[in-house]
Amino acid sequence: MTQEFLGNSQFNISNQTVSARCPSNIALIKYWGKYENQIPANPSISYTLTHCKTNTTVHFLADEAFSVQTFLSGNEEKKFANKIEKYFQNIAPYLPWILKGRYVIETENTFPHSSGIASSASGFGALAKCLMSLDQIFSVENPPASIITQKASFLARLGSGSACRSLYEGLVVWGKTEEVEGSSNLFAVPYNNDAVHPIFRNFNDWVLLIHEGAKSVSSTVGHGLMNNNPYAKRRFREAHENFATLKTILSTGDMEGFIKLVEHEALTLHALMMMSEPPFILMQTATLQVINKIWEFRRIKGLALFFTLDAGANVHVLFPNDIDNKKITDFIQTELLPLTQNGAVVKDVIRF
Ligand code: PMV
Repeated sequence: MTQEFLGNSQFNISNQTVSARCPSNIALIKYWGKYENQIPANPSISYTLTHCKTNTTVHFLADEAFSVQTFLSGNEEKKFANKIEKYFQNIAPYLPWILKGRYVIETENTFPHSSGIASSASGFGALAKCLMSLDQIFSVENPPASIITQKASFLARLGSGSACRSLYEGLVVWGKTEEVEGSSNLFAVPYNNDAVHPIFRNFNDWVLLIHEGAKSVSSTVGHGLMNNNPYAKRRFREAHENFATLKTILSTGDMEGFIKLVEHEALTLHALMMMSEPPFILMQTATLQVINKIWEFRRIKGLALFFTLDAGANVHVLFPNDIDNKKITDFIQTELLPLTQNGAVVKDVIRF
C-alpha cells in the first residue's frame, strides 16, 4: 500500500457525471518488465501524442450496488467492464468512496478501434482523470492541485503502466532514475522540457497501421516473460545507461544520436520478445519492409526519418516537423503507405 496516496475516509457522495480526455503516448526508452504492483523494472520516457486520444464520461449513481457497465463508441463491452470492476476494487484504498455506487462508463477513441494503437494508455489516463474529478467533488478535504495530477498518474499506472505517462504533455518520465530529479516508480513526472533542444519539441509521429486486430501476445504476458528472460538484467541496466545518453542528446540537439538510440530501443524491445521463453514475434512482414525502406531512404537522402515500435506490428514513423519535409512525406506516401493495411495511417504530432 502506498501511504502518500491513501484516500480521505471522510466523503459525501452524490449522483454525478464527469468527463475527461487523455492522449496516448509513445515510448522512446521502453518499459518492458515489471515487479509486483506495477512497479517498472526500468525507467522509461515517452512523447505524449496530440491527436490519438480517449474521451471518457463516467456516470456515478450513488448508493446503488457496486457494478460497472462500459460502452465503447456506444457498444456495450462486458469484458472491459469486468476489468474495470477489478481495477476499482484494487484502487479502493486510494479512493475510499469508489465501491459505493454504480457506474456507467462511456468511452471513445479518436483513432480507429481496430487499428492496433494501444488504447490502454489513453483509456486509463482518461478514466483516472474522471476518478480524480469525482474525488474532488466527494472528498471533504482536497489535496493541492499539484498532487491531483500526480495521483491521477499514480491511479492510471495501476490500470496500465504506460498510462501514467499520458497525464503530462511533452516528454514524460516514469521510473526512478538518477538522471531525472523527482522521478518515481509510482507515478510519472514531466521531463524538464525547457532543457530540450527545439528540434525535439516539434515532431511528427505517423503511425503506419500494419496489422489490425488483437495481438497474439498481450503486453501483460510479455512483461511477465521478462521474469525468466536471461537477458533481462542487462536490459534493465541498459535502459538506465540510455537515460544518461538521451539526456545529453536532448539538450544538445544531437539528431543522429537520437535516431540511433530510439531505433535501438525499439529493436531491443522486439529482440527481448524473441528471446523470451516461449518466444514470440509481434512484427509482421510489412513491419520489416517498412524498417528496411526507412534505412535505405536515410542512407541515400541523409534526412532525419526514423522509427519506433510499441508492442505490436505497427510502425511509428518519426521525423521533425520544423523543416521542409516534403521529400519525407512524399516518400512515406509512395513507398511506405502501400505496405500498410489499405493505406491506413494516423498522423499525429508532438508539440511543446
Ligand atoms: O503499459 P503496458 O503494460 O501496456 O506496457 C507498454 C509497454 C510498451 O508500450 C511496449 C513500452 C512503453 O514503455 O510504453
